[in-house]
Amino acid sequence: MAHARTILYLCVVLATLVISKSTPQKTIKLSSGHEIPVVGLGTWQMPSEAIDVAVTSALESGYRHIDTAFTYGNEEAIGKALKKWFDKGNKRQDLFITTKLPPIGMRGSLVEAYLKLSLEKLNLEYVDLYLIHKPFAFVKDKYKHQPALNEDGSVVLDLDTDHLDIWKAMEKQVKAGRCRSIGLSNFNRTQLLNVYDHAEIKPSNLQIELQAYNQQREMREVCSLRNIAITAFSTLGSPGSSSDKRTRIYKSLPKLLDNPKVKRIADAHNKTTAQVLLRHATQAGIIVLPKSTHPDRIRQNIGIFDFELTDDEVKLMNGLDKGEQGRIFHFFIDKGVEKHPQYPFATQLKNEKKTE
Ligand SMILES: NC(=O)c1ccc[n+]([C@@H]2O[C@H](COP(=O)([O-])OP(=O)(O)OC[C@H]3O[C@@H](n4cnc5c(N)ncnc54)[C@H](OP(=O)(O)O)[C@@H]3O)[C@@H](O)[C@H]2O)c1
Repeated sequence: MAHARTILYLCVVLATLVISKSTPQKTIKLSSGHEIPVVGLGTWQMPSEAIDVAVTSALESGYRHIDTAFTYGNEEAIGKALKKWFDKGNKRQDLFITTKLPPIGMRGSLVEAYLKLSLEKLNLEYVDLYLIHKPFAFVKDKYKHQPALNEDGSVVLDLDTDHLDIWKAMEKQVKAGRCRSIGLSNFNRTQLLNVYDHAEIKPSNLQIELQAYNQQREMREVCSLRNIAITAFSTLGSPGSSSDKRTRIYKSLPKLLDNPKVKRIADAHNKTTAQVLLRHATQAGIIVLPKSTHPDRIRQNIGIFDFELTDDEVKLMNGLDKGEQGRIFHFFIDKGVEKHPQYPFATQLKNEKKTE
């Protein structure tokens, strides 16, 4: 019996060694001086009841980075899953947690209150990265932390958005120790440069849609020149949302996960298409946030450090880029958002109408 137990123990140790060898956690140093793990667990559209299993299996599979947002409504569930992890003796400083300021909090005077609310829900003293979620702003509903709606269902826009005033309040949060690094999400080039040029603490991260059909070449150049790390969202093509007409304005493209060119590369490495898509981004120095509620996929999505795409394969993947025509997210889920003066994709929308 004791012999069998020893063998079982040795098998577990061996398995752990094999797993940690095939999934070494890689990090990128941000301009703030802090390290961000290049693979994080995405949690958008992850209901609270799925969080415990997803976050726990992610942490057990080697993820040390979790991405959430005030608007995802799951910060409290993430906080509970993290507490369980810490109760097992794991340390807060070994994790990287990101959350985001919601569009209803887009005023300098509201930043601190919204970050404190997120910290309370997450049950944390600080987050590693606090991002301005979107460049536009909504008026808050009187009773709940949701945008107020007009009679036709459109959101009530808060038109007085001042990015520089908000950024000053973000900087104060770093100085107060409530977040370690600050950054932007979904800002366009002009909006990003405005904040960057006036910032005392420079944005160290930009989180944007970046997937094989929309590879964001221009933004990558802009950010690389300024030492702003890019985090990609929807690298798998966001199959849970791309059929939603309110999200996409361009013609639907074939599913990235089923793309025959990606499949061919995957077969050559004995990997899945998801792994090839994630590897393509991380091999170019981009941070990724694959979202899954399934433990097997969660494990699969971090198993990308034991193979490398060849130059020809990278070329083939780069060739899938359709620029703005490949964009999935336009945020039309918030009806009327494009009328906000800081709606980031206005130029592209005009161009699209011209070519129709
Ligand atoms: N800053 C922003 O405005 C913004 C916007 C969008 C997203 N994000 C962040 O980025 C994260 C990722 O983006 P996303 O959720 O849009 O899309 P994504 O990660 O590209 O795709 C997630 C979808 O792919 C499925 N999936 C995951 N792994 C898979 C695998 N190995 N094989 C097949 N299917 C797989 C998931 O289904 P199952 O769950 O059923 O496995 C889910 O439906 C978000 O969760 C969020 O944290 C940020």
